[in-house]
Amino acid sequence: MSLLSVEDLRLSFGGLAAIDGLSFSVDEAEIVSVIGPNGAGKTSAFNCVTGFYRPTSGRITLRDKNLLGLRPSAVAGLGVARTFQNLRLFGELSVLDNVRAGSHLWLRQSVLDALLHTPRYRRSERECTEQAHHWLDFVGLRGDRYGAARNLPYGEQRRTEIARALARRPDLLLLDEPAAGLNHGEKEEMLDLIRRIQGLGVAIVLIEHDMGLVMEVSERVVVLNFGKEIADGRPEDVRENPAVIEAYLGSDAHA
Ligand SMILES: Nc1ncnc2c1ncn2[C@@H]1O[C@H](COP(=O)(O)OP(=O)(O)O)[C@@H](O)[C@H]1O
Ligand SMILES: [Mg+2]
Repeated sequence: MSLLSVEDLRLSFGGLAAIDGLSFSVDEAEIVSVIGPNGAGKTSAFNCVTGFYRPTSGRITLRDKNLLGLRPSAVAGLGVARTFQNLRLFGELSVLDNVRAGSHLWLRQSVLDALLHTPRYRRSERECTEQAHHWLDFVGLRGDRYGAARNLPYGEQRRTEIARALARRPDLLLLDEPAAGLNHGEKEEMLDLIRRIQGLGVAIVLIEHDMGLVMEVSERVVVLNFGKEIADGRPEDVRENPAVIEAYLGSDAHA
């Protein structure tokens, strides 16, 4: 059984088909990349899986559990975490608190415990902070953890967002262009981080434009073009696929 299964997904916005029949699956601890030109429907596909968009039709299951129609918080509760193409940190909150917000999802806390500041509540708060430090160490954050998240350099904010996603202890992590805007050295570190996340047993779906990174890290690559799936296969096969070359280079390339 696959961890994630997406079958014949379709999504339209007022008549415009953003996704026009996308099917792919992800196994446990597998890395699958979704690539394609801008506007191909990649982020929309993530939004469908995570409950931010409601697809027009199709099936999305996580270990045979239906995800369609669930709210984002319910999908997250089932073990799916994500990062955003445009970072969504709480800029005024500290870096540490941003990551703490991730672990609150799985710590069992009652409102009454919180109001009364019971020992159980204090213990769980402490655990939450320890976890946040652990994940910030894991992603290799170099900046100030106690300062506002918006003061971190861009690359460090990307790491913080990944730490927050990992604090949710996901089985599946969706990364939307994690290497965008990073310099060469930072990209190398991102590649290493993605591999270490896989090493934890977490499956990853990666949207990424850097083909070097995609080819290096992916077990499978799914290619979207204008909402249509034009290829799904091993990186070395996808790279040679004429439809993929055409989509990336346009018909001019044949001239
Ligand atoms: N909320 C939305 N409302 C209207 N159109 C949208 C919305 N989200 C995405 N789209 C459209 O869907 C298409 C795919 O967008 P997107 O999924 O962001 O592409 P990608 O991530 O591959 O660059 C684009 O034409 C985009 O304008
Ligand atoms: Mg996108």
